[in-house]
Amino acid sequence: MTMAADRIRAIAGDVTIDAALVLGSGLSALGDTLADRIAIPYAELEGFPRSGGVSGHGRDLLLGTLAGKRIAVLTGREHYYEHGNPSAMRPAIETVAALGARTLLLTNSAGSLKPENGPGSLMLIADHINYNGLNPLIGEPTDRRFVNMTNAYDPALRERSVELAARLGIQLNQGVYLWYSGPSFETPAEIRMAIRLGADAVGMSTVPEVIIARMLGLRVLACSSITNMGAGLSDETLSHEHTKTMAVTGAEKLKALIPALVEAL
Ligand code: HPA
Repeated sequence: MTMAADRIRAIAGDVTIDAALVLGSGLSALGDTLADRIAIPYAELEGFPRSGGVSGHGRDLLLGTLAGKRIAVLTGREHYYEHGNPSAMRPAIETVAALGARTLLLTNSAGSLKPENGPGSLMLIADHINYNGLNPLIGEPTDRRFVNMTNAYDPALRERSVELAARLGIQLNQGVYLWYSGPSFETPAEIRMAIRLGADAVGMSTVPEVIIARMLGLRVLACSSITNMGAGLSDETLSHEHTKTMAVTGAEKLKALIPALVEAL
């Protein structure tokens, strides 16, 4: 039990959850669909993100029911680029694991490297490239740090997700997500490099969270909402405002898809 998990149980009763969901930029409204919702501000929870946060991100832990499952929703994340801490999300992820979550569903906004997967499309992350040379498990003193990252993005969950999305008429692409630290966007040269390295999308989050989740034995499913083409691949001007505006289309699709995914867990 983490201290935050004890606190959550003191506030919300003897909660047990099946899964947890992390919401990315511009996606925090997805939490509105929870039934029997209890919101606990991160400020009350030991180890949870403390910063002013990033606009477009929420700052509450939500507990509630979705598609018949008890879930926790982390309405915002702390990114590496905020304070330079790659393990910033570890206490929050340990807490949802301590509350019983077996699966972590992560969402983010990302820039696409593939012309056929443009803004408004969704990309299930099939694998990642940790381009930062950073790792949230540096300093972890136990042998748990040697996490196997093969099939980190659960193949069975991905297969099921693609089927469920197709039934809802939502195209779900799959690809490799490359983590750049941000907060500046990439240069066109960095985007060309990412393409050569085999990436399909780039973003500033998620990878450290997945490494932590896998150490804790959680099954992981992660989906990027594509808000833009990578720098230099189109004539859009990249900005955080643009990301938040463009996150809306992907968020609508995710809003339709997530209950089906949660039901299928
Ligand atoms: N690069 C990095 N992170 C992002 C992007 C991008 O183009 N779009 C949304 N998040």
